[in-house]
Amino acid sequence: MAIISSKQQPQQEPNKQPKQRRKPTDETVKPPETIELLRPEATTDEQGKQEESIRPQRFADYIGQKDLKDVLEIAILAAKSRSEVLDHLLLYGPPGLGKTTMAMILASEMGVACKITSAPALERPRDIVGLLVNLKPGDVLFIDEIHRLTRMTEEILYPAMEDYRLDITVGKGPSARTRSIPLSKFTLVGATTRAGALTSPLRDRFGLVQKLKFYEVDELSKIVLRTSELLKTPITSDGAEEVARRSRGTPRIANRLLRRVRDYAEVKKTGTVNEDIASEALELFQVDPCGLDWTDRRMLSVIIEQFNGGPVGLETIAAATGEDTQTIEEVYEPYLMQIGYLSRTSRGRVVTPAAYKHMGFKPPNQQMSLL
Ligand code: ADE
Repeated sequence: MAIISSKQQPQQEPNKQPKQRRKPTDETVKPPETIELLRPEATTDEQGKQEESIRPQRFADYIGQKDLKDVLEIAILAAKSRSEVLDHLLLYGPPGLGKTTMAMILASEMGVACKITSAPALERPRDIVGLLVNLKPGDVLFIDEIHRLTRMTEEILYPAMEDYRLDITVGKGPSARTRSIPLSKFTLVGATTRAGALTSPLRDRFGLVQKLKFYEVDELSKIVLRTSELLKTPITSDGAEEVARRSRGTPRIANRLLRRVRDYAEVKKTGTVNEDIASEALELFQVDPCGLDWTDRRMLSVIIEQFNGGPVGLETIAAATGEDTQTIEEVYEPYLMQIGYLSRTSRGRVVTPAAYKHMGFKPPNQQMSLL
């Protein structure tokens, strides 16, 4: 249940335009049924075997992220031709764009194993030590949410990344001594949604730092077509495009929506998923034509209705939506900015005319011309 704080009442500045009138449907409380379909984090289901069967295994199958693929293909060829391991790689960007997939592809292109973990699973020093000592030459160690490593784990990683060495302290007090254990040369692939939250000593130890971008609709359409084929779901290219348009630039969401649309088509016995079926199904699941969910819409409507389009501060938006500021910054805002509905300014968040139109309001300049 969303908690709408009553602490921060919007301030109406004297020189601002009058408030927009709220539309008849008052959507101030998050409806439970809209939850998780458009969230980019993987659900438990999506971490299982079923998801593995649709994950691309090689660069040739991986659609989108062309710049990143170009950089990595060169790095792989160079490392192979020198018989060296790949440089450590930091991948950053919003969730659901394929950071884990990319690490797995790197490993398979290099012909090595990929060990996958995440920072919260490496709480005790022995967790990371256990992983490091078991790596074989060239292996890829993938650490998700790497900005969340504990300080101790990070300090174990420094010599491991730099010199493939594990420094361990034996004994306690004045008799304590440091021993170094050699490790196999390996590649660390770190993934984060918050590159800025990494400490600089850790960030500086990555030879390659690369960003994953939101996917274009045509790229997502190809991903939907590919997944449909693997799931043996007949779909038209229009149907795939309709799913793609509502997927927030995120393959994980596209594949999730495709499964829901497939269920709908099967129940309605229509056979093939076409544009109408896809849009009917996604309307039913309350997925907006641009992939906006309740929180996006609430954010935009609060800024429009209560703050005349902004600027308005992040804390106020968080209070109005019941989301935490970090999720708004890492999940909601990047997509709204990507589609040109929101901009961040030094004075706060501002809604664009395109967002006014999408939300069914008159953009501010049109209002002015009516005065
Ligand atoms: N499934 C999820 N992400 C994909 C991608 N980038 N290319 C192909 N299939 C995918």
